[in-house]
Amino acid sequence: MAATDASPMFQAGGAAYDGFMGRYARPLAPRFADAAGVTAGQRALDVGCGPGALTTELVARLGAGAVAAVDPSPPFVAACAARHPGVDVQAGRAEAIPHRDHAFDVALAQLVLHFVGDPAAAARELRRVVRPGGTIAACVWDFAEGMQMLRLFWDAAVAIDPSAPDEARVLRFGRAGEIAGLFADAGLQAIDEKLLDVEAAYDDFDALWAGFLAGVGPAGAYCVALPAAQRDRLRDDLARRLGPRQGGFTLAARARCVRATAP
Ligand SMILES: C[S@@+](CC[C@H](N)C(=O)[O-])C[C@H]1O[C@@H](n2cnc3c(N)ncnc32)[C@H](O)[C@@H]1O
Repeated sequence: MAATDASPMFQAGGAAYDGFMGRYARPLAPRFADAAGVTAGQRALDVGCGPGALTTELVARLGAGAVAAVDPSPPFVAACAARHPGVDVQAGRAEAIPHRDHAFDVALAQLVLHFVGDPAAAARELRRVVRPGGTIAACVWDFAEGMQMLRLFWDAAVAIDPSAPDEARVLRFGRAGEIAGLFADAGLQAIDEKLLDVEAAYDDFDALWAGFLAGVGPAGAYCVALPAAQRDRLRDDLARRLGPRQGGFTLAARARCVRATAP
């Protein structure tokens, strides 16, 4: 499989991502890095880096020269490289990481595993590129209950179209034990699962809706592909579910994070 990604849902630029999932990925990054025990002196790999929410946190902790990042989306690779001079940013997939064995102390995948075509191969690759005793960590949203933005969106979408691809139904790794099971199957040790909570602020409903219209991720791709009349119904139903909120609002998000050790 090619190192670059033709998936239309990740072909928007870094700015489009920032206004949608970046609102949550940025505050998640320090919590995820803490949970993975990222500390000065380590070499770290950010797998599925996107425009670089986690890369930014890794650079702040470790310095650009100690950080590498890979992603299959050409616009995200370009955005991450432009935002992080000195970081080794490459096109690549989690299933075939373009780095040598044992090159890193820690390998991290923030909000990525649910998009990976062959998660077992990705887990083997994460293990391969980390030194013995090093750390592998991944986190994925709790789509069913813990991610208000996506929950509100998909509840509204399914109410209009019962076949809408609710991420809680179609994506893996948001439920307890799923990442841990993947890591156990890859022979990883000392597997520890915890929940990470963040929130994002919006000035008004239009700021929330603009995120979906950017076409990023499964929700954005679904939204922009709808006929205009159905998209308008979805917007109105989403606004109704959000309720009357004055002067901006915040939405909460919960990620399931698993940390493990390479044998
Ligand atoms: C929700 S974004 C997360 C980006 C970033 N880690 C963050 O926290 O903001 C999902 C990312 O996974 C990447 N991705 C999709 N398939 C992948 C694969 N097979 N291997 C590695 N990354 C992949 C996408 O290109 C996208 O950048």
